[in-house]
Amino acid sequence: MNSKNFYIETYGCAMNFADTEVVNAILIEDGMNPVLSAEAADVVLINTCAIRENAETRVWNRLKELRSLKTVNTSLTVGVLGCMAERIKDQILEQEQLVDIVVGPDAYRDIPRLLAEVDDGRKAVNVLLSLEETYADIAPVRTVSNGVNAFVSIMRGCDNMCSFCVVPFTRGRERSRPMESVLGEIKQLCDEGYKEITLLGQNVNSYKDGENTFARLMYEASQVNKEVRFRFSSPHPKDFPDELLHIIAEQPNLCNYIHMPAQAGSDTMLERMRRPYTREQFLELTDKIRAIIPGVSLSTDIIAGFCGETDEEHEGTMSLMKEVGFDLAYMFAYSERERTLAYRKFEDDVPEEVKKRRLSEIIGQQMAIQEERNRAEIGNRHLVLVEKTSKRSDAQLQGRTDTNKMVVFDALDFKPGQYVEVEITDCTSATLLGKPIKLSSITEFANAVAVA
Ligand code: 5AD
Ligand code: SF4
Repeated sequence: MNSKNFYIETYGCAMNFADTEVVNAILIEDGMNPVLSAEAADVVLINTCAIRENAETRVWNRLKELRSLKTVNTSLTVGVLGCMAERIKDQILEQEQLVDIVVGPDAYRDIPRLLAEVDDGRKAVNVLLSLEETYADIAPVRTVSNGVNAFVSIMRGCDNMCSFCVVPFTRGRERSRPMESVLGEIKQLCDEGYKEITLLGQNVNSYKDGENTFARLMYEASQVNKEVRFRFSSPHPKDFPDELLHIIAEQPNLCNYIHMPAQAGSDTMLERMRRPYTREQFLELTDKIRAIIPGVSLSTDIIAGFCGETDEEHEGTMSLMKEVGFDLAYMFAYSERERTLAYRKFEDDVPEEVKKRRLSEIIGQQMAIQEERNRAEIGNRHLVLVEKTSKRSDAQLQGRTDTNKMVVFDALDFKPGQYVEVEITDCTSATLLGKPIKLSSITEFANAVAVA
């Protein structure tokens, strides 16, 4: 047992935030207490992201800041968790006074033992990846939560080996958490009053637990509580199951929003990226999604300036994005990662300024598309799940539509966790503004839409 105070700072994707909640549970079980700042902690753990160079740079800068904190608090223990662990263990441990423990994404159960080693005066490392670990028996502890939205991890790792991506190396092989364990956690969250649950995995449509597929899991989740919304992130455009689209269309509490990473828009580029679909197949898929789920919103991930990208290939990405008209996009300049196929096989030969120019063209076009799509929402009514007070004004609330669009409206007497029917009155490229009509529920709103 260990009665020290700990603080975990999390960088990167939703999966990392979910992992931090698993680590919270492991440390609390060991007797430690979560605190809300590095200054108040005896142990500071940084849960890291390695997906792009700038994510790693942020972590290095933060570690340097923590080194100064160590000069004030000499007994402070600093640890690196997650995706950077494997890559930088040697580098990090060589630097005096910087980091005491390094723990990879499959070794979190070992943290109490590793901390004990540090107490004995040693640096401690476990970056072993596992074929089985899913932390299925650990109930995550959500120390930082609005009580409305929760993430549930349903699988770990990735076997896709897209040529640009380091995830298969940092998180290891793909494995699914048993369905019973996922549904148990979902039930618990519903009982605790959470209103929106996002199921997470690097590649959710390959979820498999015996006979149970991802479509089955989503259906079962939707039946746990019909007044709780469910989302998922991210599916892969290859093998997208039709059955899942029909289930989403039929169940009012499965959100009409799909994040579908395209990455690029030309066949030659998709092939170099090792994305196993063509532009045509991607477009057919988005058409099919829109036909089966009317009103669905779509988002994507795009990489600008990948190895060997020609002007024509860049135009292919621009035109794909225009043709689909995504409601939201996460857009990145390519950042070379060691160990990936691209690192070994291709040259990172698009000059930095060209990458930047192409990325800003992509972003500029996307902002215009979003504004146009948002403008088309004016006059529509949406069911908004209130998340919190708006950043701009205490007199306003913010929440999201079923289609994952942010809406800001006058608070009146409404509160986080409530479903409010809102009429859209104005917009920007990022946010809808609305007028609250009345308190509602998923069932009531779905019935009203069915009658209209
Ligand atoms: N450089 C830039 N973006 C990347 N992504 C993954 N690897 C890289 C990289 N090396 C992006 C992809 C992925 C998202 C999570 O991050 O678009 O879908
Ligand atoms: Fe990376 Fe591709 Fe796996 Fe996504 S699907 S985590 S981009 S390898």
